[in-house]
Amino acid sequence: MTTFRTGLALAMVLGGPAAAQTQDALYVKSLAATCAGCHGTDGKAADGSSIASIAGMPKEYLSAQLKAFKAGTRPATVMHQLSKGYSDAQIEQLAGYFAGQKK
Ligand code: HEC
Repeated sequence: MTTFRTGLALAMVLGGPAAAQTQDALYVKSLAATCAGCHGTDGKAADGSSIASIAGMPKEYLSAQLKAFKAGTRPATVMHQLSKGYSDAQIEQLAGYFAGQKK
């Protein structure tokens, strides 16, 4: 873990454009990791899970749902709380990430 953090810090210090892209991908992946506990790794819910698989859903649908949860216009149990933790820009990144995952 410490080695990973040091590596990441180094990558940030040494970062050129290519490194910036890697960091961006890492950043989005780390945002998406917070969803894995319930929606499964990369948004693929475990068989028999009562929580929706979000992998491969259209980006527009995902971002619209997250924004609706955030605004409180779509009923929810936990997603209201969770979605409030993300900016609209982060919601777009999350939607793009999960839309790009295989169902
Ligand atoms: C604590 C468990 C939990 C976590 C963590 C979680 N979700 Fe959810 N998610 C749910 C539940 C439960 C629902 C059903 C709505 C509700 O009751 O809140 C849901 C619904 C959704 C839906 C709507 C799916 C549909 O079929 O319309 C989307 C999109 C979604 N979540 C995305 C995310 C994203 C993106 C993250 C990470 C930022 C995330 N969720 C993290 C539990 C979770």
